[in-house]
Amino acid sequence: MSAGLQKIESAVAFIKNLYKETPVVGIVLGSGLGSFIEEIKIEKEIAYADIPHFPVSTVKGHSGKLIFGELSGKKVVAMAGRFHYYEGYSTEEVVFPIRVMKYLGISTLLISNAAGGMNKTFKVGDLMIINDHISTLTINSLIGKNEDAFGTRFPDMSEPYRKDLIEKAQLIAVTANYEVKQGVYVGVTGPTFETRAEYKMLHILGGDAVGMSTVQEVIAAVHMGLPVFAMSVITDIGIREEENTITHEEVLQAAKDAEPKLTHIFKELIGAI
Ligand code: HPA
Repeated sequence: MSAGLQKIESAVAFIKNLYKETPVVGIVLGSGLGSFIEEIKIEKEIAYADIPHFPVSTVKGHSGKLIFGELSGKKVVAMAGRFHYYEGYSTEEVVFPIRVMKYLGISTLLISNAAGGMNKTFKVGDLMIINDHISTLTINSLIGKNEDAFGTRFPDMSEPYRKDLIEKAQLIAVTANYEVKQGVYVGVTGPTFETRAEYKMLHILGGDAVGMSTVQEVIAAVHMGLPVFAMSVITDIGIREEENTITHEEVLQAAKDAEPKLTHIFKELIGAI
């Protein structure tokens, strides 16, 4: 067995010893979007620091534990705190929890993030269902020796975000009378926000929103054949006429404001899976 797979298996064995149920949905929450956790009827919390080989979170707004419990009648596992490449983690560390959740038994992965809007029809607080992504401006999380137990060397990426999950979420949004956008998420390394010229370029390249997470996680999930649904909260507008700057605090606040709608969609979607 490869060293990579061995690490996953020892983390999974540790967790299974503490929590006997099998979660069916895994949830990764973005910056400022952590209070979704309160929706879960919590059965077990395990600090990242306690799990063998698990990286530990450093960023403001991320707390660092796996949360197990029930939501909308399903067993779920949620990551309170995720790992970003810009923090200095290797891509293998960034996607480690995704692989652990897959080996714990999840059959669907839900991801949220905060993102900068580039589509001219977007405004702060909008929700965007990610229907595709551009990964070429960040580091591909599968670079390195392929672990055949996870998946093939050259994974197909024609549908990284499952159409059936997108359709279900759209229906949930329409029923709740929410206006929800769809679009292409561009993954970048960060940690700088983009310059005006960069936002313009990313838009020309086909991006509707840009962010510093998600893409590496989605690639690892698709590699393992794990269906993904992901949604962005538009926390700032990259392409704009007026002079204004973007701060992390502003991103967190916008995420907080949009969170109830995202929470509703995730909850209903989990129920419908
Ligand atoms: N750019 C990159 N990442 C982000 C942004 C942004 O404008 N907003 C939130 N995360």
